[in-house]
Amino acid sequence: MGLPALLMENIHVYIDGYHVLRGLNLEVIHGEYTIILGPSGCGKTTLLRTIAGLQPTSSGRIVIDGEDVTNKPPWERKVSLLHQIPGLLPHLTIEENIILACTKRARLSKLDAKNIAREIADQLEISDQLHKKPVQLSGGQLQRAALAVALAIQPTLLLLDEPLSHVDKPLADKLSLLLKKIHREYKATIIHVTHDQDEALSLSEKLAVMLRGKIVATDTPTNLYRCPPSIEVAEFLGLNIIHPSILDLQDDNYIVIPPEEIKISVEKPSKQRLYIEAILESYKREKGRILLLLRTRSKIENLVRVYIDPSSYREIAKHNKLYLVLTEDTIKCRLKPA
Ligand SMILES: Nc1ncnc2c1ncn2[C@@H]1O[C@H](COP(=O)(O)OP(=O)(O)O)[C@@H](O)[C@H]1O
Ligand SMILES: [Mg+2]
Repeated sequence: MGLPALLMENIHVYIDGYHVLRGLNLEVIHGEYTIILGPSGCGKTTLLRTIAGLQPTSSGRIVIDGEDVTNKPPWERKVSLLHQIPGLLPHLTIEENIILACTKRARLSKLDAKNIAREIADQLEISDQLHKKPVQLSGGQLQRAALAVALAIQPTLLLLDEPLSHVDKPLADKLSLLLKKIHREYKATIIHVTHDQDEALSLSEKLAVMLRGKIVATDTPTNLYRCPPSIEVAEFLGLNIIHPSILDLQDDNYIVIPPEEIKISVEKPSKQRLYIEAILESYKREKGRILLLLRTRSKIENLVRVYIDPSSYREIAKHNKLYLVLTEDTIKCRLKPA
């Protein structure tokens, strides 16, 4: 498998006395598209700045492509960081911005730089914008231009700080296709941070969950969503955490079920089916899902909150009896109580 593109070991970072990164560990494989998903304020931007060398660490080790860069300045790391708000030099044209990155940071000749600028601009479909200054570009063009500058140095790591969060939905869809294309064609190792779960699940090859300055889980998005390693991560991903007594199971572990895998029925399922009988106390829409508050027959956890997918929702009156229908496969993920 070779050396990882990035290895971070036990990283601690303090900003103005505030402990932002708290013993963070992360390994990223060459050529992989990794997304780091975490709530606002958990330290994602700080993490990217630390990898790029813009934020000093108080302890820990950072290795890029086999080389210990912990104490190296930003310009000696083959890393490009694309900021949340694209930063381009305003007095230069887009082409001059790209050429400057090539000649100053990648130390290419002016001629090579010009050729690379043309090639990247062509790939990102901004060839007709090269002669313009940043202020003359639309939001989407500006994102692409900043991406062109980031790619120009042929970085080992391309770091993207919430690249889709400041654009509207159609543009975000276009940009995410573009990111996939860059990943494929440049075989770029990408670390993309976001607080948006749908974006993370749909775009990543590897998903890392970050909470309170630490990476708390890493796996493929499918594995993580189907069975995360802890109750804390399951809660963060909005999964249902069901007490075993509700299913009359003799087990100490909680059962973790994604909202999409729970079907609602108002008729009693056949005896062979696995189901939870409950009375609907209340319901509301929350984060694109429907949250049901249910009263069950379990003596241990009588009142439960269950998320379901809107597609499986049917008009159900309050205080009516309903059945949550499950399959044997649905209850395979069991986790120890926190
Ligand atoms: N310059 C700063 N001074 C004080 N606190 C900061 C500074 N920068 C970041 N922080 C704090 O560090 C934490 C992590 O910030 P950040 O890395 O920006 O998180 P994220 O990108 O995940 O939203 C936040 O609680 C923030 O308030
Ligand atoms: Mg941030």
